Amino acid sequence: MSDSKPRRRRPKPSNSPSKSITTTADGDLEDTNSRIISPLDILRVLLTLIFASGLLSYYLTSGKSLLFNYNPWFLNASKLSHWWSGPLLLTPAQLALYNGTDPSQPIYLAINNTIFDVTAGKHTYGPGGSYEVFAGRDATRAFVTGCFQEDRTGDLRGVEWIYIPIEDDPDEEISSSARKLRAEKERREAKKKVFQEVNKWEEFYKNHKKYFEVGKLVGVDTYTGEAPPLCEPAEKGRPKRKNVNAKKNKKKDAPGKPVQ
Ligand SMILES: *[C@@H]1O[C@H](CO)[C@@H](O)[C@H](O)[C@H]1NC(C)=O
Ligand SMILES: *[C@@H]1O[C@H](CO)[C@@H](O)[C@H](O)[C@H]1NC(C)=O
Ligand SMILES: *[C@@H]1O[C@H](CO)[C@@H](O)[C@H](O)[C@H]1NC(C)=O
Repeated sequence: MSDSKPRRRRPKPSNSPSKSITTTADGDLEDTNSRIISPLDILRVLLTLIFASGLLSYYLTSGKSLLFNYNPWFLNASKLSHWWSGPLLLTPAQLALYNGTDPSQPIYLAINNTIFDVTAGKHTYGPGGSYEVFAGRDATRAFVTGCFQEDRTGDLRGVEWIYIPIEDDPDEEISSSARKLRAEKERREAKKKVFQEVNKWEEFYKNHKKYFEVGKLVGVDTYTGEAPPLCEPAEKGRPKRKNVNAKKNKKKDAPGKPVQ
């Protein structure tokens, strides 16, 4: 019968704000509450100060900010609600509606299937902006090639050719097996470069002060059929074998460290 058992009183934590009477060294009674400032008291004072500061800021900024116009993303209601409601999942057709033509809607763009809110850059991404082409779609390929007209797609197949040298040196001395190995190596490295380039842009939007991630593009068809050709400006900008080899030979022939 637990009821009949005498309840043991739990010892009070030493900093509890209850009254406690202690005896000082010389035998006098003393009320400790009158001299100890408990952490709770400090907390109370701090909270009061924060509240008062927020109130003052609210007043001074005419109700716009609680932190004197310092507005980190977590105090922005629209961003907070995005974060709270979880990632937005849009199909390409749904994403297309956020193309900036309706000023009451945010402007979204996608890169490698991640959707970012770029509303803060409406002069750049909105109608007439220099990057208008990216609004409302995933034009990752255009991020790599710079061809805004031709490459409004997320199809990256074959885009690595942009980094692979044009064979403009028929007299090059190289065995067919070495040529094959080199081609494989160059293809691998080119794909890595594409990945890095896409990644760079993704990070750009992720780390941007005014743009932020809102979700993912879903229901993207896998790209089939023939890979799109490299757009003309990108094709023209490809490195040339002669130049690549010339550079290599220059390095080889360069004098070493002077002998001391
Ligand atoms: C919150 O963020 C959105 C999107 O970047 C921006 O349009 C809006 O002005 C921000 N609100 C405040 C109060 O800073
Ligand atoms: C752009 O978005 C609007 C709605 O915001 C839509 O009516 C229009 O069709 C979109 N344009 C394209 C090309 O998808
Ligand atoms: C695109 O994103 C997927 C994961 O969502 C990742 O596996 C892939 O490497 C990314 N591609 C590039 C080119 O960054």
